[in-house]
Amino acid sequence: MIRYLTAGESHGPGLTGIVEGVPAGLSITEDEIAEHLERRQKGYGRGGRMAFEKDRAIIQSGVRFGKTMGSPVALYMENRAFAKDDANWPVVMNKENEAEGIEKITLPRPGHADLVGAQKFRFDDIRPVIERSSARETAMRVACCSIARKMLKELGIEIGGHVLRIGSIGYESWEQSRNITEDLISGGAESIYTEADRSDVRCLDDDLSAQMREEIKVRRKEGSSLGGLWEVIITGVPAGLGSYTHWDKKLDGLIAQAIMGTQAMKGVEIGLGFESGYLPGHQVHDEITHDGNTFKRDTNRSGGIEGGMTTGMPIIVRGAMKPIPTMLNPLGTVDMITHQSTETRYERSDVCALPRAVVVVESVIAPVLANAILEKFGGDSMEELKERFSHNV
Ligand SMILES: Cc1cc2nc3c(=O)[nH]c(=O)nc-3n(C[C@H](O)[C@H](O)[C@H](O)COP(=O)(O)O)c2cc1C
Repeated sequence: MIRYLTAGESHGPGLTGIVEGVPAGLSITEDEIAEHLERRQKGYGRGGRMAFEKDRAIIQSGVRFGKTMGSPVALYMENRAFAKDDANWPVVMNKENEAEGIEKITLPRPGHADLVGAQKFRFDDIRPVIERSSARETAMRVACCSIARKMLKELGIEIGGHVLRIGSIGYESWEQSRNITEDLISGGAESIYTEADRSDVRCLDDDLSAQMREEIKVRRKEGSSLGGLWEVIITGVPAGLGSYTHWDKKLDGLIAQAIMGTQAMKGVEIGLGFESGYLPGHQVHDEITHDGNTFKRDTNRSGGIEGGMTTGMPIIVRGAMKPIPTMLNPLGTVDMITHQSTETRYERSDVCALPRAVVVVESVIAPVLANAILEKFGGDSMEELKERFSHNV
């Protein structure tokens, strides 16, 4: 089974990732990993610092002649901010010596991990919390997950995401966005992201994209921030992944954990999701038919998962991202040391990170699905996995 871990701080020398359990014989290159890293770096609503991040993961082990060896894959990604762009970081993040006069950060930002993180680890300086809780870490997550994503792609399983709403601007109903994605996914879910990536807010609708940009401009001027809603669709999924037999084998539960384990994600739903709570049963459940060959459903309101198992229809996952906690216009806070009421201090930050976060949520779903595949079909090599997969699909 695939497991991955990341290590590294936002302004340390770099990020490290280890991905284990990848079958041998999977073709993977640094360029392929870079594709999703580049996508993660692009999006309207970025702040100053991010403009000079140029991410590229270096494969340090586990791959020979362009193919995985079944051994752990280690990745490393340099943080350009460290040393190259700002000579101060090697001093602030020094692993051995504490230099004189380094300013402690004592004003926790509401909505960030700052206050509770510092209390939990008994820090008198928020810096270590900021460094690890920040979404900079998602760069390495995207890199690690792109290996699972490549495994899925070789089996014909594609993942693609897009933005549904930013603040007050978005589709009016589930059906409205379904009509747009329905045509695109006949060619595989990657066509969703290819199309969405043409918009710098990653929205498939041109009018909505323009309005979303305006909304971001307005909030930027106010010194505030924005979140929104996204959707990720997965195509080519065979029926029967996951299981109803235990709570921790349900695929919808495992997907939800991957999403909720991602910075700033505050809600997740599969298919109709929350809407199914206020509709009658006849407008929620997908009727079953048979075409002489196979069972079918004309609708996919379940979002491709029933009883914790895939139905064979595309998986449809949606989620909510909260607005970014770091804002130019300050919020009230309290100094951790003096306990004096004061206001947050601004550090360069995104105004709306949702267009970029879409790439992160696409990515974190990949190992969950890859593991559901490995659990059902098994295989130490891609050759073995493909044989088993083709016999069962
Ligand atoms: C892609 C991405 C970029 C983010 N960029 C920022 C940022 O620039 N500034 C910020 O304060 N929070 C940013 N966040 C959100 C914080 O990382 C997140 O709110 C914080 O870690 C607290 O975790 P929680 O929101 O899950 O409770 C970003 C999140 C994502 C997914």
